[in-house]
Order: sequence, then structure tokens, then C-alpha cells
Amino acid sequence: MRTIIEPFKIKSVEPIRLSSRHEREEKLRAAGFNVFLLRAEDVLIDLLTDSGTAAMSSEQWAAVMRGDESYAGSRSWYRFEEAVHAIFGFRHVLPTHQGRAAERILFATLCRPGHIVPNNTHFDTTRANVEFTGAVARDLVIPEGLVPSAHHPFKGNMDVARLEALIAEVGRERIPLCMLTVTNNSGGGQPVSMANVRAVSALCRQSGIPLYIDACRFAENAYFIKLREDGYAGRTPLEIARELFSYADGCTMSAKKDGMANIGGLLATNDEALASKERNLLILTEGFPTYGGMAGRDLDAIAVGLREALDEDYLLYRITSTTYLGEHISRAGVPIVQPPGGHAIYIDAAAFFPQIPALQLPGQALVAELYREAGIRAVEIGTVMFGRRESETGRETAAAMELVRLAIPRRVYTQSHIDYVVEAILEVWKRRSEVRGYRFVEQAPILRHFTARFEGIGG
Ligand code: F0G
Repeated sequence: MRTIIEPFKIKSVEPIRLSSRHEREEKLRAAGFNVFLLRAEDVLIDLLTDSGTAAMSSEQWAAVMRGDESYAGSRSWYRFEEAVHAIFGFRHVLPTHQGRAAERILFATLCRPGHIVPNNTHFDTTRANVEFTGAVARDLVIPEGLVPSAHHPFKGNMDVARLEALIAEVGRERIPLCMLTVTNNSGGGQPVSMANVRAVSALCRQSGIPLYIDACRFAENAYFIKLREDGYAGRTPLEIARELFSYADGCTMSAKKDGMANIGGLLATNDEALASKERNLLILTEGFPTYGGMAGRDLDAIAVGLREALDEDYLLYRITSTTYLGEHISRAGVPIVQPPGGHAIYIDAAAFFPQIPALQLPGQALVAELYREAGIRAVEIGTVMFGRRESETGRETAAAMELVRLAIPRRVYTQSHIDYVVEAILEVWKRRSEVRGYRFVEQAPILRHFTARFEGIGG
């Protein structure tokens, strides 16, 4: 059979409330054209994030009921720890309430002012947690990773030559750890190859620098390796994931992605002395080491979810359905980050609306049009999120790229939902020359995208 189906049937449904264009126009205005300020019930298809938005399986719900809420040494903790050991292989595991809590504990333990942390591309919370310690976060993705239209099977790879040059320039003592984000979220959900992990690991080991994996989307990355890298077609995603982690000294993970859970995270390491320091911080702000920031039922849901994320039928459907969206819009001419990523499609809004200059926020304009047209909620990753406003002069600087991310929640939407999204994007594409830009009318000094309000320029 050529048709690839969703490898699940639906047991419990959550209604989507349909709305008229007129109603959406009113909601959008009331929200100051910022889709973060909409109520979820006013959204038809929510592609804001793939984080914490997964549909749990019947096995996970059964696991929730098995959750043991003992304060110390609960059964849930041992099931969680065993699942993490079986997949990741690291000796010490610390449970956290989500990914950024693991980041905060790791960087607070290892980083000091004057340090530099290389990564293929830091996710924004990862960067913020590195910088909070006074260290500098440095992105070293390969050059193809910065060109939306460039095709490369592993566009998330780290530029090993630049890493080598960085180590030679600043010295090993100033690099407390190196990180690889799989898949590279901020770079378009692009995978890292096993050859690249091996090369980065060899260089780090030779220099005495610990290598950590930001493992949020490790299962999707493993599947890309199976599909695209020589020698891996016959291996299971679990075997590939185990090999990948064997080259590293530890990892951080938000279980809200490939943990298939609605909350949770973890920090893992092979370094006993480090683990014991980290455990002290964990107790201070997350909780006792056998539950961290989670309820027993969360630990159980993740223990099951981590294994489900590695299921080949699921991964085939997952990667195929994201690619389906990307191909259907790019075939019609819509400019996207190529090739389609694992968890999301990124539209190049600057190329979509060439008439709208970066400082008139083309990504924001596209996000507003998708909501107006069809009630779809996407997220701007461009000047609204990463541009800067000088507080004294009010002068604005644009971001490097103007992208709009359509992130696909796991196991939530069917092909007809995705067909609806394709139709909406193509409708906006047809009338793209009529769309105008936006300006800020209110913005906070930090993380302005969450709360800013806008108005349309010229109407
Ligand atoms: N690392 C990566 C690569 C991420 O994508 C995220 C979250 C985190 C770390 C932090 O994890 O949210 O559990 O604290 N990404 C979400 C997103 C928010 O929408 O891409 P967290």
C-alpha cells in the first residue's frame, strides 16, 4: 500500500469549535494581533508548539493510573529510571519539571563568567540559561544550516572545523561543555548525522570537554539517521539512539517533545561527582531526587512515552505527515526551510511577502493572516521574537531570518486537518501581494513576543 495512515485510532476526542472569519477578525483585534493572547478555544488548528501538546496513548493513561505518589523511592521513579537507562544509557538520571530546569541545573553547576558553550544552535531557553551564569552561548551550525532554501540531509550538523578553531582560540579551560541539539529546533528542526556526533565527540574527548546532547527530539533525529545515513537502514531507532548517546557524557531533555508527555524533563550524566552536585540543586528547587519536579504519574507517562516515540510505525507517520505539509505548500511555490524538519515546517515570511520590509514584521503579518483565514495559530520566529529595540533611541534591529513555524503536535491532528492547513496557506499565498505589515504599539523589554500588541500599517 502506498497510503501511509495514522497508526492509531481515536478513543477520546476534544471538540474543535468552528468560527467565522468575522468572529476571528474580532478576536484578533482584541488580542492586539498577538496570537499568544488568544484563548485556545478560539483556535481551530493549534500549531503554536509541539511541546507538551501530544495526545497520550491508552497505555500512557493506564500508566497514569499506576502512578505511585510516594515522596521517596516510588515505583514510578524506578520505572522512569529504567526506561531512561535502557534508551539513553547514562549512569545518573535526575528528573526535572521540564527541559529548562535541567538546563538551569547543568549550566549553574558547570558554567562561570568567561566560559563559552558551543552548540549547533542553542534553543532560546538554553541560550538564556547559559547567559544567566555569565557564560557566552556560541552557535556553530554548518553554513547550510543558515540558508533556508539550501538542501542538505543533515542541516543540523555542527561545523567541526569551527569548533576546533574555537578550542584552539580560547583554550579548553574556558569551554566547560559542548552541546548538540537533536534535532536542531532553532535551525528548522533539522537532524544531526551520526558521523557528525562521532566527529564532535572525538574532538571533545581529545580536548577533555564533556559533550551533552539536548535530546528533546532524539527519536525523530534517530529516524532521520535511519532514512538518510549510510549503514543505518537496517537498524532500529532504539539502536540508533543508543549509539548516538554512547558518544556523549550526558544529556538534557524536555519530555514534552519525544517523551510524549504533557510535562516533564530530565538531566542525565555519567559523571558521579557532577551528579551529586546537581542533585543538591535539584533538591533546592525541583524536589527530592526520585521525583524532581514531577508527580509519580508524570514519571510513568514518560516511561511509556519514551518507548512509544521510538516505534517505527509511529516515526514513519510522524516524519511523513510533517513532510506532507511541507511538500504540498512548497510545490505550489511557498518558500519554506528545506528540507522539511521533523516536528515543524518553517515558512520563510521574508520571501513570502517581499513587499514587507523586516521592520514591518512580515512573519507577524503571516501569522495574523493564517488566523484570519482559517483559525490556524502559528508562531513568528523573526524580528518580533529576536529583533531588538534600543531603549534610549527606540531604534529597531531586525532578526537574521523572518520565519513562521508551524509545529505539529504529536498524534493530535489527522491528514484532513493538515489538508485544511495546506488549503489555508495556499489561499493566503494567492493574495500575498495585498498583505501589509505591522508595527508594535506595546512591547515589554524582554521576551516581548509573548505580550506585545500590534497594529496594521495602512489599514
Ligand atoms: N531545548 C529545545 C531544543 C527545545 O525545543 C525546548 C523547548 C527546550 C530545550 C526547553 O524545554 O520547554 O520543556 O523547558 N521548546 C519548545 C518549543 C518550547 O516550542 O519549541 P522546556
